[in-house]
Amino acid sequence: MSDNAPEVLISEDRIQTRVAELAAQISSDYGDIAELVMIGVLKGAFIFLADLSRKLSIPRTIEFIAISSYGKKSAPSGAVRLVMDVRGNIEGKHVLIVEDIVDTGHTLKYLMGMLGSHRPASVKTAALVRKAESAEVDVTIDYLGFDIGDEWVVGYGLDYAEQYRTLPYIGVVKPANIQAR
Ligand code: PRP
Repeated sequence: MSDNAPEVLISEDRIQTRVAELAAQISSDYGDIAELVMIGVLKGAFIFLADLSRKLSIPRTIEFIAISSYGKKSAPSGAVRLVMDVRGNIEGKHVLIVEDIVDTGHTLKYLMGMLGSHRPASVKTAALVRKAESAEVDVTIDYLGFDIGDEWVVGYGLDYAEQYRTLPYIGVVKPANIQAR
């Protein structure tokens, strides 16, 4: 690992333990439903979705959705635009939206409304991390991995300028790391 690797905030072991706990809870809650449709929000959710889905003991299918947000925190409107929709029909199905991180909450709120309009049997949410202090809108996270502070986190799907997504842990990027890369 290079000297400027991000400082570990949540270790690989802690992540894997928590993901297994979440998967056990989800498997128990959904019980004997015919199928859970897991919808990963690109790009960041791809690793969490992969690990979580492989640990479930219930039938599941995988979809992806892509959105684009404008300006993040600098845009109070939190405008979010759909870039790629799910391929399958979710009407009458149980849907679990899978996010890597919930920051302001605008993305998840938009997705819940948009997917809800397709008349699924239910819509629930899972997120690996939440920046509780950054919330601008109220959104329910049914399955949450960790609460974190207002830091720039990378790894386990999360990026800084498209870097660091494949780190096995969640780390904090500090200005020194960014300049040294
Ligand atoms: C991140 C994350 C969420 C969104 C959360 O995506 O994956 O989708 O931001 O932010 P919010 O709660 O403030 O709406 P990002 O825009 O960084 O795209 P990426 O997943 O492709 O990296």
